[in-house]
Amino acid sequence: MVHISNFLLAALPAVFALPSASQHDLEGRSANVAQTEAHWANQASAQGRHFCYIKPDANGGDDAPAIMDALNNKCNSKALVIFPGPVYNIQTNMTTLDLQDVVIYQFGRMLWSTDIDYWLSVSMPVGFQNQSTVWYFGGHNVVWDGWGVGTLDGNGQVWYDWAKSQGNLARRPMNINFRTLTNSVIKRLRFVQSQMWTMAITYSQYVDLDDIYVNSTSTSQWSTLNTDGCDTIYSDSITFRRWTISNGDDAIALKMNSSNIAVYDSYFENGQGIAIGSMGQYNGKYEHLENFYARNITLKNTAHVSYLKTWAGISRGYPPNGGGGGLGVARNITIEDVTLIGGRQQPLFAWQCENYSGFSGQDCDSSLFKMEDITWKNIKGTVGPGVTEAVYLQCSSAAGGCDNVEVENFDVVVASTGKPLVVWDCFNVNAPIGFTCTESVTPKLSPAVTGGHGPDN
Ligand SMILES: *[C@@H]1O[C@H](CO)[C@@H](O)[C@H](O)[C@H]1NC(C)=O
Ligand SMILES: *[C@@H]1O[C@H](CO)[C@@H](O)[C@H](O)[C@H]1NC(C)=O
Ligand SMILES: *[C@@H]1O[C@H](CO)[C@@H](O)[C@H](O)[C@H]1NC(C)=O
Ligand SMILES: *[C@@H]1O[C@H](CO)[C@@H](O)[C@H](O)[C@H]1NC(C)=O
Ligand SMILES: *[C@@H]1O[C@H](CO)[C@@H](O)[C@H](O)[C@H]1NC(C)=O
Ligand SMILES: *[C@@H]1O[C@H](CO)[C@@H](O)[C@H](O)[C@H]1NC(C)=O
Ligand SMILES: *[C@@H]1O[C@H](CO)[C@@H](O)[C@H](O)[C@H]1NC(C)=O
Repeated sequence: MVHISNFLLAALPAVFALPSASQHDLEGRSANVAQTEAHWANQASAQGRHFCYIKPDANGGDDAPAIMDALNNKCNSKALVIFPGPVYNIQTNMTTLDLQDVVIYQFGRMLWSTDIDYWLSVSMPVGFQNQSTVWYFGGHNVVWDGWGVGTLDGNGQVWYDWAKSQGNLARRPMNINFRTLTNSVIKRLRFVQSQMWTMAITYSQYVDLDDIYVNSTSTSQWSTLNTDGCDTIYSDSITFRRWTISNGDDAIALKMNSSNIAVYDSYFENGQGIAIGSMGQYNGKYEHLENFYARNITLKNTAHVSYLKTWAGISRGYPPNGGGGGLGVARNITIEDVTLIGGRQQPLFAWQCENYSGFSGQDCDSSLFKMEDITWKNIKGTVGPGVTEAVYLQCSSAAGGCDNVEVENFDVVVASTGKPLVVWDCFNVNAPIGFTCTESVTPKLSPAVTGGHGPDN
């Protein structure tokens, strides 16, 4: 739950408070797109807010300096910022970290330039796994509303062609890093063709992200590996509602120290599904991933419904592509009311020997990372023709295995035959609840296991 000040809520038009995209919303959206600068200036003035109306550069030049100037100076606090559109060319990196009580209405499209060499030269560290970004965005009591039309377009095809399906290339930036963002709402925004991950939320608390559309699709032979929808890192109380994601990697991923993360009423396609991890990548470091809840999720053509992944207990190499030896706990993870359409691998998956530089599946019993209190409930739907396993749950014996793993009301069948999945493949799952393990095959180097997993973070 986000705690926006009463003042801020009172200052917003009534339509803001509606829980979901309704007819009323749609009417309000088109009415607002058409509003004049004078209309918004009056609204800002009536609310005692500073006012910025940012038009794209008339000659198609870089719009980043004007955006930064507004968000860092004139409209940095108690402000209304309007982006009427149509297209903002983003040609330089941005840092806007100190917004206070700012409402942003974005009706246009921000389009990042395709100068890969430039972006590699400026991409800024996110502070985890060598990830980097070209926009740091943060503040307190921020509402950023795209009204269903505002778009961040990373121009990603040039990046997919450049990466040639290789994962984790150094300095390849994500589109935006929400960073030290608190008590804020991001809503009705569209994120398309992200350069790398779409976004990460780091060092943030009490952020709601509602009615968000993400789509990174390649038109060439090269994949959209690494185009995660959103990763949470060092963050607490982040809520995702009504997301649509079509991409080539994790839809939503929880990484180091993510707690009280929730996902509701969302649709994910083509990527890996919901990821808990990877975890334990940093040798000797302790981390927690706690209290995750997801409900009413539809996934189509994803690798899994959800998967938990820790590195092995033995540290070899360094992040982003090597690692291991990390400590910690993943606990109280619940996913319920799921419809899977044509899943590509085991619907439910966990393992403790992640490794992006190949040889994943080694030293699987060495991790000390504990996974417990994990529930999958009401999982129905279909998988593709090659899938035989309902679950593949590989828990590390050095961590004492996994405790309190529950699967309730699982009804996933092979689409082409209508036959249920009868293989429940487990290792060191202590007293499974609601299911019986059928076998434990050698975990390593099974193409079905390793096929979709690396190097995807
Ligand atoms: C742009 O990137 C460079 C290099 O990472 C950094 O030093 C600079 O502060 C960044 N500027 C902005 C405005 O983000
Ligand atoms: C990751 O970052 C570290 C520290 O900045 C650096 O030494 C290393 O080369 C980077 N690795 C890759 C693959 O980018
Ligand atoms: C994603 O974009 C592709 C290419 O534009 C399009 O074909 C596809 O329908 C989109 N997916 C969703 C879920 O909107
Ligand atoms: C599940 O989510 C979808 C997509 O947001 C929504 O249309 C539907 O009403 C939700 N179902 C329930 C039972 O909340
Ligand atoms: C992650 O959380 C643990 C506690 O679970 C804490 O000890 C550690 O310092 C945190 N790590 C970072 C980098 O904040
Ligand atoms: C488990 O997580 C839920 C949120 O999904 C939270 O409400 C509940 O209190 C947590 N349980 C424990 C024992 O921490
Ligand atoms: C990770 O893969 C590399 C090969 O690229 C291998 O040398 C290393 O042993 C593996 N590490 C673990 C922990 O499996």
